[in-house]
Amino acid sequence: MSSLLEDKVYIVLSDTTKRGVYPLHSYRYGLYRIPVELTDKKEIQLVTAALGQEFKIDEFADRIYVTYKWKETDVTASKPQDWKEAELEITVEIVTGEVVDIIYQIKPIENFPEAYWVKNYRSKAEQNAKMVIDLIIKNTMIGEKWKQAWIKKLKITEQEAQKKLEGLTPLAKPLAVAKPAATATPAVEAKRKGIDINFRNSRQTVEDHLGHHVWGPVSGSSQLGIHGTAVAVDFDICTADGACVEACPVDVFEWLDTPGHPASEKKADPAREKECIFCMACQAVCPPKAIKITRGVHPFEKVTA
Ligand code: F3S
Ligand code: F3S
Ligand code: ZN
Repeated sequence: MSSLLEDKVYIVLSDTTKRGVYPLHSYRYGLYRIPVELTDKKEIQLVTAALGQEFKIDEFADRIYVTYKWKETDVTASKPQDWKEAELEITVEIVTGEVVDIIYQIKPIENFPEAYWVKNYRSKAEQNAKMVIDLIIKNTMIGEKWKQAWIKKLKITEQEAQKKLEGLTPLAKPLAVAKPAATATPAVEAKRKGIDINFRNSRQTVEDHLGHHVWGPVSGSSQLGIHGTAVAVDFDICTADGACVEACPVDVFEWLDTPGHPASEKKADPAREKECIFCMACQAVCPPKAIKITRGVHPFEKVTA
């Protein structure tokens, strides 16, 4: 269960809450308030773009509605042709503003007339809502902003903040690592996890390329290491998806041909790393999680391991 919601969510069955949120009668309702600001239109667009890869998104005024659908099958009939199927859905609402509210309301089962036979509907809907919320926080700049706030306020390191975020959003994992292979080799496993966020300690710079560091190991055309420091792209994980190139508002990335590399034959090189304005969009949209953005580290700062 999402520890985030376990600890902090306010569950109410009726009544009003702040900022015009009126839970409907007999809906089960949960609200989580995250103390980060999300008012910039561009930033809001980036959040919806990141979530649009996994969910149906609707927007209205200061709200983003994130809908997750799932199927239930009733297999109690003896013949498969008599089995019943129903599609259910849960919508999580993000209210943007000086703080971010994340809300879900569980509709009564009567709203899905085909699904009257579904057992434990409410707890399934609630579990799915929490999974969506964990994914929203973990995979968008909301989580990044929250981490930066902790780093400042609690004086903790980036890694500690990352750990804290992961601890609060355990349900983000199953979808984020979508469809794991049955037998993953250690190399595949490493790729699934994405870029090593500790690379500045665990790796060493082996060369400089277009004004940014390259963190080894590198070997021929098959092992290319991590390019960049503040904007770090793990070339061995990058699959040339291109979402980062499209998302970056200040054109930090440039395509670099990498013939012979097993993951892809071109990479998003952080050629203009110094231009980065830390909007976090690239990190949020990269499907294999090949990018790590770190504020406050100058690309050529001397790094002490
Ligand atoms: Fe661009 Fe990513 Fe920086 S999108 S502005 S390189 S955080
Ligand atoms: Fe590569 Fe990810 Fe960008 S796969 S091209 S770093 S979105
Ligand atoms: Zn490079």
